[in-house]
Amino acid sequence: MATSPRYHVTVAAPINIAFIKYWGKREGGEHLILPTNDSFSITLSTEPFRSKTTAVLDASLTEDELWLNGEKESVAGNPRLVHVLAAVRSTCPADRAKLKVRVVSNNNFPTAAGMASSASGYCALACALVKVFQSTADVSVLARVGSGSACRSVYGGFVKWLQGTNADGTDCIAEQFANAAHWPEMTVLCAVVKGHKKDVSSTKGMQLSLQTSPMMPARIRDVVPARMAAVSEAVRNRDFASFAAITMSDSDDLQAVCRTTTPTIVYATDDSFQIIKLVHAFNEAKGRKVLAYTFDAGANAFLFTLRPDVPEVVALVNHYFPTPDELCAFNDPSLLRASKAVTLAPNCTALLGDYPKRPLTYLLQSPVGDGPREMSDAESLINLSTLAPILTVS
Ligand code: DP6
Repeated sequence: MATSPRYHVTVAAPINIAFIKYWGKREGGEHLILPTNDSFSITLSTEPFRSKTTAVLDASLTEDELWLNGEKESVAGNPRLVHVLAAVRSTCPADRAKLKVRVVSNNNFPTAAGMASSASGYCALACALVKVFQSTADVSVLARVGSGSACRSVYGGFVKWLQGTNADGTDCIAEQFANAAHWPEMTVLCAVVKGHKKDVSSTKGMQLSLQTSPMMPARIRDVVPARMAAVSEAVRNRDFASFAAITMSDSDDLQAVCRTTTPTIVYATDDSFQIIKLVHAFNEAKGRKVLAYTFDAGANAFLFTLRPDVPEVVALVNHYFPTPDELCAFNDPSLLRASKAVTLAPNCTALLGDYPKRPLTYLLQSPVGDGPREMSDAESLINLSTLAPILTVS
């Protein structure tokens, strides 16, 4: 039986996908991660993919420790983590602040999935630390200082990250705009393409764009504020056609900003460009906007569509990028099964000309999710008797 004070918690946190992108930190905002503009995202479900973090505070621990995806990491060598820990300790009861913490964290998505894990990872970390230290800090502020986009994963549904104006970042927070039940038909597919390129990190990329892309001033001043207002209306009214048009424009702008950055940045691969072409051609063939794409600082396509259209969209994706079932990770497997029964209309079977058909690395499906959730002791990543890290991914 433990004789020393011991506190523990395990949290699962979701990925979020922005449809109005965060791309740039305002002056003096590198350390606190204060963005140049608001952004807006959809939080995915924690099924099938999530980050999971267990944190234990115990008097027997002699240093702060982090185990990430099975490897012990240096805490001191990670300035963002040091910053998060300091912020938690400055906002918690003194008897907890003096205890050391052991953190064990993993992602259940394969590394090859090329999914950005910093949002779900720092969100899980922030939730776990606030709980275990009994900190009064705002969880989204803490997640933000780990990685900007992580602050949006703190809430379920449709989430805005407000840029704020305070120099100390206290009003630079995420807030829920609408919960998952507001638009339950909204569905996200992630097409993880082959041929991973060596990427410029988003942290570095946005820094370069802010310094050099001639598009950035107008984006910050006019373009994003107008889009935030328009897309808020679209989400409020569940107007998919408007949502899709604004989402694709913002994704295209991010790519244009990167292209006009010096040195130029291109995250998209041939497959990414073909998916963009496919989405436009499919919408045209259907005579309405069925599908929207968005891309982050990478080649993978995130597709938004409404649930009744999912089987046909999956059939479409599989027609051009035939992906074996075992590489399809669906929150709702009945949607994958339903796609098998779909026969694409003749005007949808030759949309990419003679572009070679090749499989995706993964095809993922998720509804809009409810945000992070606390997990039971049985799911802990730390043995709660011995404090040994449990390093198998579960
Ligand atoms: C393209 O949150 O990874 O995904 O704050 O430097 O950690 P840091 O950057 P990060 O940037 C994400 C950028 C993006 C757009 C978005 O998610 O809004």
